[in-house]
Amino acid sequence: MVLVGPMGSGKSTVGALLAQRLGAPYRDTDADIVAATGREISDIFVDDGEPHFRELEREAVRRAVAEHTGVLALGGGAILDEGTRTLLSGLPVAYLSMDVEEAVRRVGLGAARPLLAVNPRRQWRELMEARRHLYTEVARVVVATDDRTPEEVAQAVLDALELKDV
Ligand code: S3P
Repeated sequence: MVLVGPMGSGKSTVGALLAQRLGAPYRDTDADIVAATGREISDIFVDDGEPHFRELEREAVRRAVAEHTGVLALGGGAILDEGTRTLLSGLPVAYLSMDVEEAVRRVGLGAARPLLAVNPRRQWRELMEARRHLYTEVARVVVATDDRTPEEVAQAVLDALELKDV
């Protein structure tokens, strides 16, 4: 199963819970990039720019989709790449969605997320206008996370993907 959605939507937390529930391994492309480069995502953005990060991310997603059989969480912007979207077609992909107020509450002003460092509310809106249709396009199911605990979201994902008996 693959989890997509914007930063702060709970992909890592929910992904780890889902992996536990399914008795499957958890993997996360941001963590793969940090492990492969030995650098933090924010440093890669600042030092080398977003296009370089996207190249690393494209490769990390390609490798993870090929190798991994458990729960895989993708970085929030991974779906911007057309090749990645093609790669995801036919896979059980869940889009964890949330509204702007929930996003600002969760990601906050002091975020380590470079894309929301300045004026997070406006950045968020712009980001989602550019991406919402892409998340929806790759998703088999959409699960709203607003006002839900990670456990509730994990259960909703299992129900939506009809994996509750696994
Ligand atoms: C990004 C999301 C981040 C990380 C990077 C860019 C994005 O991942 O890949 O900061 O473009 O939305 P998370 O969604 O895991 O926070």
